[in-house]
Amino acid sequence: MVDALGVAVVGFGWMGRVHTRAYARLPHHYPRLPLRPRLIAVAEEVPGRAEEAAERFGFASATRDWREVAADPRVRAVSVTVPNFLHREIGVAMAEAGKHLWIEKPVGLTAGDARAVADAVAGAGVQGAVGFNYRNAPAVETARELIASGELGTVTHVRIRFFSDYAAHPDTALTWRYERERGGSGVLGDLASHGVDLARFLLGDIAALTADTAVFVPERARPSGATAGHAPAAGGEPGPVENEDYAGCLLRFASGARGVLEACRVSVGEQNSYGFEVHGTRGAVFWDFRRMNELRVSRGSAYQDQPVSTVYVGPGAGEFAAFQPGAANAMGYDDLKVIEAYRFVRSIAEGTPYGTTLADAVYSATALDAMAESARSGRWVSLRARRTE
Ligand SMILES: NC(=O)c1ccc[n+]([C@@H]2O[C@H](COP(=O)([O-])OP(=O)(O)OC[C@H]3O[C@@H](n4cnc5c(N)ncnc54)[C@H](O)[C@@H]3O)[C@@H](O)[C@H]2O)c1
Repeated sequence: MVDALGVAVVGFGWMGRVHTRAYARLPHHYPRLPLRPRLIAVAEEVPGRAEEAAERFGFASATRDWREVAADPRVRAVSVTVPNFLHREIGVAMAEAGKHLWIEKPVGLTAGDARAVADAVAGAGVQGAVGFNYRNAPAVETARELIASGELGTVTHVRIRFFSDYAAHPDTALTWRYERERGGSGVLGDLASHGVDLARFLLGDIAALTADTAVFVPERARPSGATAGHAPAAGGEPGPVENEDYAGCLLRFASGARGVLEACRVSVGEQNSYGFEVHGTRGAVFWDFRRMNELRVSRGSAYQDQPVSTVYVGPGAGEFAAFQPGAANAMGYDDLKVIEAYRFVRSIAEGTPYGTTLADAVYSATALDAMAESARSGRWVSLRARRTE
C-alpha cells in the first residue's frame, strides 16, 4: 500500500531543482517505499521562476510567497533550498506548521540558527534531514565501515579537502554568498560544512581545532538582476567580498587522531576536488568525489611499501544496489540526493530518523563557528565545552 506524500520546494535555484528531481526519481529507485512524493507546491521569489518550475517539473501550484506553502494542508514535507540567511526563518516556520523538513546545509548563518531550526523540528515532532550529501556516497559508507572495523589499525591522521574554482573568476557575480548578512560565512559554510560532516561521520567527534582564513578576491561585480548558482556579472558595479575564500584548519579528534581540513572556493585548476585521506597504523583509505565510486585502499601487514589497490564499490556498498547492478557502473551527484530523499521519506514513513538529522547541522555549525573564532583569535578552540546538539 503506497500513500501519497505532498511535498513542496521553497527556493528554485540549483538545489531546488536537485531536490525536485530526487523526489521525482524516488519511486524508480525505491519502489517499496510506502510513501510516494507528490509535487504540490513550489515557492520562489524571482517573478516567473515558480511558474516555470511548475510547468517543467509538474508542481500542482506555484507562488512567490513561501508562507502560502506553510499554510497549505496538502503539503506534508518541505525542501528548504533558499540562501542561508532564510534557513532559520523558513525552517522554523515550516516545522512549526507541522511540515517535515529537508533543509540545505549549513542551516542558517550560525550555530544559533541551526539550533533554532533543530529545536523547532524537535518541538513539532516532525522529521528533519540536512543536505550533507557526500556522506551518502556508497564508497564513503564503505570507508567508514573499513575504518570502524579496525582493519586500518588505529587512525592517526586525516586530510580532508574541499577545493573548488566556482568563485575563482574575478567576474563571478557578488551574490548572497559573498555577503555576511545573507550568506554568513564564506567557504566555511559553503564547503567546510561538508568537510566537518565527513570528518565526524568517518572519525567521530572533534575535540579541538584551530583555523586560518583568507579572502583572495576582495571585490566582485554586483549582478544587475536575478541570479542562480554562480553566474558571471562582468562590468557590474564593484562591491566588497565580506567573507572568506579560504579556510585551513587543524583538527584534534576525541580519539586522539589529528586532521587537516582545507576548503577554498577560488582554487584555479580544481573542479569539485573534494575528498579525504585517512591514515591508520596499518593501512589507509583515500576517496575523491570526482571518482565517487572508487576507494583506494592500502591494507595488510607490510607497514612499509604496502601497495594501494583500487576498489570499485558495487551492490552491497551503502545504497549502490538501488542505482546500478554491478560495481564500476558510475553513480553521479544527483544520485546522492536521491539517497538523501529516500532517507528523509523513510524517516517520515517510519516516524524515526534515518540518515542525517538537524543534530548533524548543529554539530557542523558549531565547529564552523569555532573555526571563525579561532581565525580571529589565532588560538585553539575546544569543542568539548560547547553544546553541539
Ligand atoms: N548540498 C550541497 O551540495 C549544496 C550545493 C549547493 C548549494 N547548497 C545549499 O543550498 C542552498 C541554496 O543554494 P543554491 O546553490 O541552490 O542557490 P541559488 O542561488 O541557485 O538558489 C536559491 C534560490 O532561492 C530563491 N529565493 C531567494 N529568496 C527566496 C524567498 N524568500 N522565497 C523563495 N525563494 C527564494 C532565489 O531566487 C534562488 O532561485 C544554500 O543554502 C546552499 O548552501 C547545497
